[in-house]
Amino acid sequence: MKLVIATNNIHKINEIRHLLNEKIELLSLGDIGCRAELPETEMTLEGNAVQKALYIYEHFNVNCFADDTGLEIDVLKGEPGVFSARYAGENCTYEDNIRKVLTAMQEKKNRSARFKTVIALVINGKIETFEGIVEGMIRDQKLGNNGFGYDPIFQPAGLEKTFAEISLEEKNRISHRAIALQKLVKYLENNV
Ligand code: IMP
Repeated sequence: MKLVIATNNIHKINEIRHLLNEKIELLSLGDIGCRAELPETEMTLEGNAVQKALYIYEHFNVNCFADDTGLEIDVLKGEPGVFSARYAGENCTYEDNIRKVLTAMQEKKNRSARFKTVIALVINGKIETFEGIVEGMIRDQKLGNNGFGYDPIFQPAGLEKTFAEISLEEKNRISHRAIALQKLVKYLENNV
């Protein structure tokens, strides 16, 4: 079956292609001729994921899913959370966001944090959501060159390395997005 993923983020598309089985043909927004900036104005990850997926379904009439991810840091009261992409301001880079987190976390003893992904699937007009969470901690400096976003400062529980120090294959075995996607794939296998 064909399924559109409502993102232009090439890193995410690559991660997700690795995870889906050959029964699902993943199409990007470019593949369906969508060049619009997707709306993302809700105050929760779930709200944003549903909003993006519904936008594509309503404008292009295709089955699709959207994901929204946030890094929640306990000592920062859950920030950057739903604001993870633009934590350091409009048009900021991954580097700017990491710098802002490291500055806010200076001398903080409680380093616990988690990545949370919510996937919203819209299939034949019906909405389903799937959540994936990885617990971990924020390191006090950047480590590693793989991955994207906050990967160089996030160390998942049970590993001595950040997400940026492990391979894409290894990240895909344990990541927040992988957990949510496995739930999505299981749902598709059982219901479609
Ligand atoms: P999005 O709204 O799902 O695109 O995610 C918001 C922001 O969270 C992104 O701009 C990245 O900075 C960050 N992010 C999302 N997924 C990951 C990940 O797997 N690793 C590190 N950072 C991520």
